[in-house]
Amino acid sequence: MTAAMTPGFAWWHVLRGLLLGAAGIATITAVIFGLKQVVPVSALAGLYVLPILPVAIGWGVWPALIVAVGSGLTFDFFFFPPLFVLTPTDAYIVTIMVISGVTAIVVSALAGRVRQRAREAESLAREVQRVAEEQAALRRMATLVARAAPPEEIFAAVTAEVGRVLSADVTVLSRYDPDGTATIVDGWSSTGGAVPAPVGSRFPLGGRNVHTVVFHTRRSARVDRAEASGPAIEAFRALRIRSALGAPIIVAGQLWGVMIVLSTRQEFLPADIEARLAGFTELVATALANAEAQAALTASRARIVAAADTTRRRIERDLHDGAQQRLVSLTLQLRAAQAAMPSEAGELTEQLDGVASGLTGVLEELREIARGIHPAALAEGGLRPALKTLARRSAVPVRLDVGVGVDARLPEQVELAAYYVVAEALTNTAKHAAATVADVQMAAGEGVLQVWVRDDGRGGADLTRGTGLVGLTDRVEALGGRLRVHSPAGAGTTVEIALPLTDVGARQS
Ligand SMILES: Nc1ncnc2c1ncn2[C@@H]1O[C@H](COP(=O)(O)OP(=O)(O)OP(=O)(O)O)[C@@H](O)[C@H]1O
Ligand SMILES: [Mg+2]
Repeated sequence: MTAAMTPGFAWWHVLRGLLLGAAGIATITAVIFGLKQVVPVSALAGLYVLPILPVAIGWGVWPALIVAVGSGLTFDFFFFPPLFVLTPTDAYIVTIMVISGVTAIVVSALAGRVRQRAREAESLAREVQRVAEEQAALRRMATLVARAAPPEEIFAAVTAEVGRVLSADVTVLSRYDPDGTATIVDGWSSTGGAVPAPVGSRFPLGGRNVHTVVFHTRRSARVDRAEASGPAIEAFRALRIRSALGAPIIVAGQLWGVMIVLSTRQEFLPADIEARLAGFTELVATALANAEAQAALTASRARIVAAADTTRRRIERDLHDGAQQRLVSLTLQLRAAQAAMPSEAGELTEQLDGVASGLTGVLEELREIARGIHPAALAEGGLRPALKTLARRSAVPVRLDVGVGVDARLPEQVELAAYYVVAEALTNTAKHAAATVADVQMAAGEGVLQVWVRDDGRGGADLTRGTGLVGLTDRVEALGGRLRVHSPAGAGTTVEIALPLTDVGARQS
């Protein structure tokens, strides 16, 4: 379209320059006619340089030379004797025309240089702005990665940022699956509309397309429409793509997926796109590596906590079914033997009585230890009765406020964590706080269990000074929750937890 218009446009443009020159020559001629009574004509000939200057600056050397020749001839015709006759070969007229011509050439060359410099400055400014926008986009991405935003948020941000920065028509982020397919995890379109292959679309690799070439080479690849084939192309058929470029996303040495830039335009995608894309794909890879490391850490913490719980449950069972039962039956046997004693046994009966109450005391102590190891009562009755027992046994008076949401059975690991937090916080209150009262508050709703244990003691709790609060932090974070301790010196201590109510493990009885 533009190419077709160019010749007509150029002629019209040149004609305008020549008309301006002609108007200038006419004006100067009129001025010289007006002045020639007072100023010698030879001194006014130089005025004909004036119409040459704007034409040389605005239209270049050839129109300026035509105006220069026109000026010389006009002067010759109107003011150089013999008047109203052309004598272009006269030395004086030739000199005037040579001076005008040189002026036209020099001024147009200078103007060309100035225009060239201006163009260079403009393209430099555009380049600087492009780099600045790209840096800003990378910075926004890096901020998202640094604050460990969820992968979906990062995928959406990277497709949009890359699309805008590289002026793409469509960008797509795909993940390679182990069964030889690719799944679209995000897509962006410059029109703001939907991408033909929506998030979650899956297609087998094969044929010649960026999905497949990047998968096989683990390098950036370009594929143009003429050579493209395969299921990935079918998925984007509605787009009329002319060229596509893909860059691999490699996480911890493994090919994870591909970032793709699609263009429906005739021009080729710029040569430096691969390098510019790399900054973005590296950030996505970092985000994925971080998310994987975080998930692995949480899973391993959960495994450690679960293994410890299993051991505690086993010890509690062994105590309950073994030592405790033996003690119970020994006590019963002793009581029976006591009952069978002749009444004259006197002192011996008293001694046996002492042994029997000693045994009962040991049994009670053993039960207490077993409860501390693993609260079997929690599995039977849930949090409310278990908390009541904790409150009753606490050395500091406890005010209990348990919301009705807590009465429904919660995931086992959540109940256990909440129980241990309250037990440890109350033990700490008794051990360290010198408090007069403790408040335990528990509420469940909107997928979260929240627990607060507050005391009015001396404050100053410090997680680095023991293992109780640190162990609880591990337990709570392994469940995806968080634990906070607020304990200003002299102003009491609050231990607060929030636990997501997702079932993290099958309930074990
Ligand atoms: N309610 C509280 N009031 C005042 N200080 C507290 C309170 N809770 C904890 N602390 C302080 O914080 C420290 C850490 O508590 P943490 O429960 O982690 O360890 P601990 O109770 O000393 O030992 P353990 O490992 O047996 O629990 C305690 O040593 C204590 O100095
Ligand atoms: Mg403690």
